[in-house]
Amino acid sequence: MSKIPRHVSIIMDGNGRWAKKRGLDRLEGHKAGVESVRAATEFAAENGIGFLSLFAFSEENWLRPENEISGLMELMVGAIIGETSTLMNNNIRFRVIGEKSRLSAGLNERIEEIERKSSSNTGLTMVIFLSYSGKWDILQAITRYTSMVKSGEIPQNETLTAEKFSTLLSTTDIPDPDLLIRTSGEQRISNYMLWQSAYTEFYFTDVLWPDFRKNDFRKALETYSERERRYGKTRDQINNSI
Ligand code: IPE
Ligand code: IPE
Ligand code: MG
Repeated sequence: MSKIPRHVSIIMDGNGRWAKKRGLDRLEGHKAGVESVRAATEFAAENGIGFLSLFAFSEENWLRPENEISGLMELMVGAIIGETSTLMNNNIRFRVIGEKSRLSAGLNERIEEIERKSSSNTGLTMVIFLSYSGKWDILQAITRYTSMVKSGEIPQNETLTAEKFSTLLSTTDIPDPDLLIRTSGEQRISNYMLWQSAYTEFYFTDVLWPDFRKNDFRKALETYSERERRYGKTRDQINNSI
């Protein structure tokens, strides 16, 4: 693989269908998905990927049946507790991004603890998007911007640039994703990083998330390394600048 993306993001989809195929409860699919998270994290660390972000729960997922939501949240707490030593032993920095005020106090405590513990780790940065949506992110940035203008922190006549706006998003210290993988055959963004994925390369696979393993990740990277990112320029311009 010639080009290793700095930031890979994954929309981990298909847990419910994986369970249904086996006559199991949807929650069993989510549980099985934890092993795929482990495999993806290991693969990212082994291959020198700087940032691995995972869409774990969307703002719209709050509309799911209550027992599925509570099961998922319990699973998150368990996974954080269970994986803490592995993250620390592997020098992984752990972050959660999303509307944390909607999460339980217990889960927030766990998140804060592991974020604090792992904050000085210098290897892979793992970002979990939890209770997140792209529209929420843009709206909270606008809300912050207007209050900063009101308070005088930002001068009234200053022109708002894309660069400045990016710093107000919840992903401010994380580079935009280079590659976005979505499993389970769906080909949509489902209100994920709308602003940040402006020039992201997309890769869709039919593999259901609980079946996703290092080999599937490798295929995505191979496809990515064959892509030509032009950012609106012509092919000649891109080739001449190398
Ligand atoms: C992805 O799997 C996990 C979450 C959205 C929390 P799904 O639960 O969406 O699985 P499908 O799409 O129903 O198969
Ligand atoms: C997107 O999956 C969100 C996550 C994977 C966390 P969904 O299963 O919720 O998306 P839709 O509803 O099929 O678009
Ligand atoms: Mg789904």
